[in-house]
Amino acid sequence: MNVCSVTDNPEIVVVNDSHPAVSENWAALALSYRRVCVVGLGYVGLPTALLFALHDYSVQGVDVSERVLGNIQNSKVGDVYPELSDWWSEVSAEGNFQASAKPEPADVFLITVPTPIHDADKTCDLSMVRAATASILPVLKPGNLVILESTVPPGTTRNVLKPMIEAETGLRVGEDIHLCFSPERVLPGNTTYELIHNDRVIGGTTPEASILGRTLLGQVMQGQLHVTNDITAEFCKLAENTFRDVNIALANELSILADEYGVDITEARELINMHPRVNLLKPGIGVGGHCIAVDPWFFVEASPINTRLISTSRLVNDRMPEYTVQKILTAVQDIQNPKICLAGLSYKPEVGDTRESPAMRVVALLKAEGIDVVTFDPLLPEYSETTLLHAAKNADYLAVLVGHSAILEVIRDQEPELHQVMRTPRVHVF
Ligand SMILES: NC(=O)c1ccc[n+]([C@@H]2O[C@H](COP(=O)([O-])OP(=O)(O)OC[C@H]3O[C@@H](n4cnc5c(N)ncnc54)[C@H](O)[C@@H]3O)[C@@H](O)[C@H]2O)c1
Repeated sequence: MNVCSVTDNPEIVVVNDSHPAVSENWAALALSYRRVCVVGLGYVGLPTALLFALHDYSVQGVDVSERVLGNIQNSKVGDVYPELSDWWSEVSAEGNFQASAKPEPADVFLITVPTPIHDADKTCDLSMVRAATASILPVLKPGNLVILESTVPPGTTRNVLKPMIEAETGLRVGEDIHLCFSPERVLPGNTTYELIHNDRVIGGTTPEASILGRTLLGQVMQGQLHVTNDITAEFCKLAENTFRDVNIALANELSILADEYGVDITEARELINMHPRVNLLKPGIGVGGHCIAVDPWFFVEASPINTRLISTSRLVNDRMPEYTVQKILTAVQDIQNPKICLAGLSYKPEVGDTRESPAMRVVALLKAEGIDVVTFDPLLPEYSETTLLHAAKNADYLAVLVGHSAILEVIRDQEPELHQVMRTPRVHVF
């Protein structure tokens, strides 16, 4: 391992692609890695682990959840993540992927655990990142590469992971252990394609770590791999999700203004976007998921005074479920004891994931108002025992909160039947 150690030649710490010979040495070290351990087997970690296994790496997946381990041991991966069915069939036939509760020695450790916010003060909860890091420390060896993929406040890799590794193991980051931050950009629903093809940023705590990370990820990914330092990579990830959140907030705020003016926002948006330099996003009922609705708060936590636009955007998007409820109640104010059918409950179209779902908030708010509510989502097992036509039976209002294609098809192709089963045929697609 020491052939590539920076301690052999302190000048090598400035190594980058302008020193091809040195880069080659580091690349050779990355190519020698064969054992990969992925800590956290969720939306990001499981496909990542399977992708390495598909490329003949010996992969250990680690998760603290018995449910997650049980799903893998009972081969239920395809039920939980239909888009991973093919990869799972191939990997389970090969036998080079195992899942367990504790990390074992490996060449590379990828950390893909959740980073939620504390509800009370909207600060980042790094406890799972700390726990995952602590779990690999007993098995870390000189020459290992550690890549953090969880979305974190800028500075976490160098200020949290590095000191933990050095204090507990006595190994030096940058000399014995190589440490990177490399964020994931996958879109749930299109994970397998995007994991392979998206461009990706790799931020090493040292230039050598960046080369190791880039070479390793380049063995299984085909997108462009862009190298920078750890804090820049962390900053970019937050900035990407903040960009989305702020732009969605603008669309949502304009949709509220359009309502006030009696303007149809759908028509207006089409006209607005004919401007060659404008691309107004589609407004909706809010922002969900555990990324866009969460990550901008990490910036706010770090610098409240300089994040007025970012924090206001979060508040605008968080208010949308309440605004949606007001619109629904106004639409049925002439009906006594209205029955409302809410269709589409996940946090966005075509995914069966309800984390931070604004639609679920709409459901809760309407129920709190004492409204008779029926719920339906074809992508969520607990809400899909019926059909849309059945769910809408005797309803006075059908609100499509999230436009899964399976819902929109019924509205388009079976409109007469839908109207017939409803008590009052009022349908609105948000
Ligand atoms: N899902 C996405 O599309 C996406 C995209 C980009 C970035 N991210 C980021 O990636 C990270 C992971 O997200 P996810 O969606 O995969 O989360 P997830 O909740 O789907 O999965 C995380 C897994 O980690 C496990 N876990 C928690 N603590 C652990 C520990 N100490 N040791 C081992 N396992 C542990 C959980 O049991 C869970 O199975 C988050 O920081 C998220 O913001 C997610």
